[in-house]
Amino acid sequence: MKCINCNTIYEYNPFLLLCPKCRNLLEIKIENPSVSWSTWRRRHTGVWRYREALPVPSSVKPITLGEGGTPLVPVEDTRVYIKFEGSNPTGSFKDRGMTIGITIAKNLGTQVVIAASTGNTASSMAAYAARAGLRAVVVLPEKNISEGKLLQTVLHGAYIVRIRGSFDKAMYYTLEVVERLGKLVYPLNSFNPIRLEGQKTVAYEIVDQLGYVPDYVIVPVGNAGNIAAIWKGFKELYEWGLADKLPKMVGVQAEGASPLATAWSRGLEEPVWFEEPETIASAIRIGKPVNWRRAFIAVRESRGLFTTVGDSEILESQKIIARRVGLGVEPSSAAAFAGFLKLVDNRTIDRSSRVVVIATGHALKDPGSMKLHSASTIEVYSLDELARLLVGIAGG
Ligand code: F0G
Repeated sequence: MKCINCNTIYEYNPFLLLCPKCRNLLEIKIENPSVSWSTWRRRHTGVWRYREALPVPSSVKPITLGEGGTPLVPVEDTRVYIKFEGSNPTGSFKDRGMTIGITIAKNLGTQVVIAASTGNTASSMAAYAARAGLRAVVVLPEKNISEGKLLQTVLHGAYIVRIRGSFDKAMYYTLEVVERLGKLVYPLNSFNPIRLEGQKTVAYEIVDQLGYVPDYVIVPVGNAGNIAAIWKGFKELYEWGLADKLPKMVGVQAEGASPLATAWSRGLEEPVWFEEPETIASAIRIGKPVNWRRAFIAVRESRGLFTTVGDSEILESQKIIARRVGLGVEPSSAAAFAGFLKLVDNRTIDRSSRVVVIATGHALKDPGSMKLHSASTIEVYSLDELARLLVGIAGG
């Protein structure tokens, strides 16, 4: 394990969450794994296809729900693809990290797992903990958990703790309580680098599916773990000789919750905290992302950028993806696509570029956002009326 700030190296220890020297976050280094596309391609698709690149000894049995192996859907006849992470077992990319996190937690003999969440981590952890026979405790902000995510978490039987305050406070409580209670509870937020090891597999999968490395990978950014995880995945492929280039990483934040993008646009080295983040994309309604340093490193190293989009652009993008591409995505995923449209529009990204947009979660997660779109609901009172209506629709 290596500190992302002072670069000190530590022996692998799943309980080590912060660098003992400088209290920054750690990352896991996979040393010289024996990996090849031909071995990987002989296995089922999914996170565990890439087993040699994961920090799980081969003797350990995975706790899995078949996560990963998600569709890569082309956008009309362009070189742009949407990686639809909404088709994971609980409907978001979180399952990729959770299968690893819960496998490790179970193997450590932990009984209780904990995570602060805007909803997707909570529902994913609840499902995987159920599968493993562990107790899950989710720490949720007072407001703005979408209905789909909350009800999934209820369904899977997690303990639901609601605090008075925002996600950032829930995250702070979680970090502190884990430090206080030591090995009694195991944390599965993305400050735990084990989660990110699962999430990095989306990078492997993109290259696996496309057969090449795209020019840009566009990711919605909240707590900022995923963009760093994906960048780590691409870098590993490059270091191990499994890819011949690296993509540029683009992080998209909602205007009202843009601590990283705001700092980026002002040329600052550190984020501008948002005390009261506000956006319709509740998954990324985060003002103090715990992984900010990793995300800055990812964007800087890859020569990418951060950008913002407004709530109206997010809703418009959700509609375009739903009605032109055929995928239902939640608002934070739509934010990434909105960012892409904006960057093509202002010519930051060339129209001929090869682009993958990560659609992190399914539209069903957030019924409230779907209610905001215009419906063509037509009441009919007779069979004749229905027939006339259909003739009209068929006539265009
Ligand atoms: N998209 C969705 C659908 C998410 O749920 C999240 C984060 C993100 C994007 C941002 O990813 O935090 O790694 O930058 N959701 C977390 C949660 C915070 O609790 O479910 P990130």
